[in-house]
Amino acid sequence: MKKIFFFTAIYLVLSACSVDKTPALKDAFKDKFLIGAAVNVAQSSGVDTLGIAVIREQFNSITPENCMKSMYLQPEEDHFFFDDADQFVDLGLKNSMFTIGHCLIWHSQAPAWFFIDENGNDVSRETLMERMKKHITTVVSRYKGKIRGWDVVNEAILDDGSWRQSKFYDIIGEDFVRLAFQWAHEADPDAELYYNDYSMANEGKRNAVVAMVKSLQDKGIKIDGIGMQGHLSMDFPSVVDFEKSLLAFSELGVKVMITELDLGVLPNPKKDVGANIADTYEYRKEMNPYVEGLPESVYMAWSNRFNEFFSLFMKHSDKISRVTLWGVSDHDSWKNDWPIPGRTDYPLLFDRNYQAKPVVKQIMNNKR
Ligand code: GLA
Repeated sequence: MKKIFFFTAIYLVLSACSVDKTPALKDAFKDKFLIGAAVNVAQSSGVDTLGIAVIREQFNSITPENCMKSMYLQPEEDHFFFDDADQFVDLGLKNSMFTIGHCLIWHSQAPAWFFIDENGNDVSRETLMERMKKHITTVVSRYKGKIRGWDVVNEAILDDGSWRQSKFYDIIGEDFVRLAFQWAHEADPDAELYYNDYSMANEGKRNAVVAMVKSLQDKGIKIDGIGMQGHLSMDFPSVVDFEKSLLAFSELGVKVMITELDLGVLPNPKKDVGANIADTYEYRKEMNPYVEGLPESVYMAWSNRFNEFFSLFMKHSDKISRVTLWGVSDHDSWKNDWPIPGRTDYPLLFDRNYQAKPVVKQIMNNKR
C-alpha cells in the first residue's frame, strides 16, 4: 500500500513539473514594452467571462474598443453617457493596468450634432472649437489620474500625406490638432498624449505625420507619443516600410506605440487596404475562403508574418513603449466584418475558443 502511495506521489510531482509553464504575455515582455488589448463592453462588464479572463491573465494595458468614442460619450449635446467608460476605467484600476483613453477627436464615430446647428448647417469655427474644448475637458477631467494615456487625435492625415477633409479640418483648419492637444493637457497635465493613425508605413503619411508633430513641438505643445495602428494584412505593409516609419517617429523624441495590432488573413478587395472604417465592399463567397477553419499552410504563412513583425518590435523595443492587440480572440475581431461584412477572419493571438495560438509561444521566444 505504502508503495502505491509512494509511486502515486512521484507521478503527481512529475506531472506537475511537466505542466506547460508558458508565461503570460505581460510577463514575457515586461522588460520590453507594455502589452495591451482593446476591450469591448461585453468584456469590461464581465458578461464575456472567457474574454475577460484572458485579458486579466495576459495583458497589462487596455484600450476601449468603442465606448469612449464621442458618439457614445456625448450622443447629444451636453448629455454625457459615462456608464460603460466608467466600468472600463475601473477594470484598469482594479487590475493595475496602463489604461488608455481612445479617442478624443476623430472624424468617425462622432455624433452628427457635433458639427451642425439647429438648421443642419455647419457650425462656425468658434462653436466647433467650444464643443471640442467642452468634450475634451469634460472627458479628460473625469478620468484624471486614472487614464494614463490619451489618443488625442485619430486619423487626421490621409495616406498620401494630405490633410483629411474632415469637419474638424474644414471648419477649424489644421489648428484643430494643436487645440486638441492643448486642451487635453490642460485637463490632465500628467497624462501622456498621442497622435494615432493607420497605414503609417506609407511614405506620404509618414512624412506628413513627422511634419505635423514637429510643428506641434515647435509651438511648445506637449505630445508624448505616436500610435501606429498596425492593422496589417498579408501583403501590406512591408516590414521595411513599417520600420522606416517607426524610426522616423522615434527620431522626433516621442514614444512609439503599436496601438491596434491585428493581421487579417483574408483576401483584400484592394491592395493597401489600410483601416478606413468607411470603406466597405459587397460580400462574395470567394472572398471568404476559410469559414471551416484555416488550412495549415495558410496558418503558417500568417504566423510567419506575425513573427516577422514581432521581431521588428523586439529589435526596436527601446523605442516602443506599448504593443496593443486590437481585440483578444478571433471571434470578436472587427476584421470579420471589415472591409467585407460577414467573413471569418483569423487576425488575433487567441482563437475562437480563447485558446492561445502556437504563435504566442513563438513571439515570446523570439527575444533578441
Ligand atoms: C480605427 C480606430 C479604432 C477602430 C478601428 C476598427 O483604427 O482607431 O477605434 O474603430 O478603426 O475597428
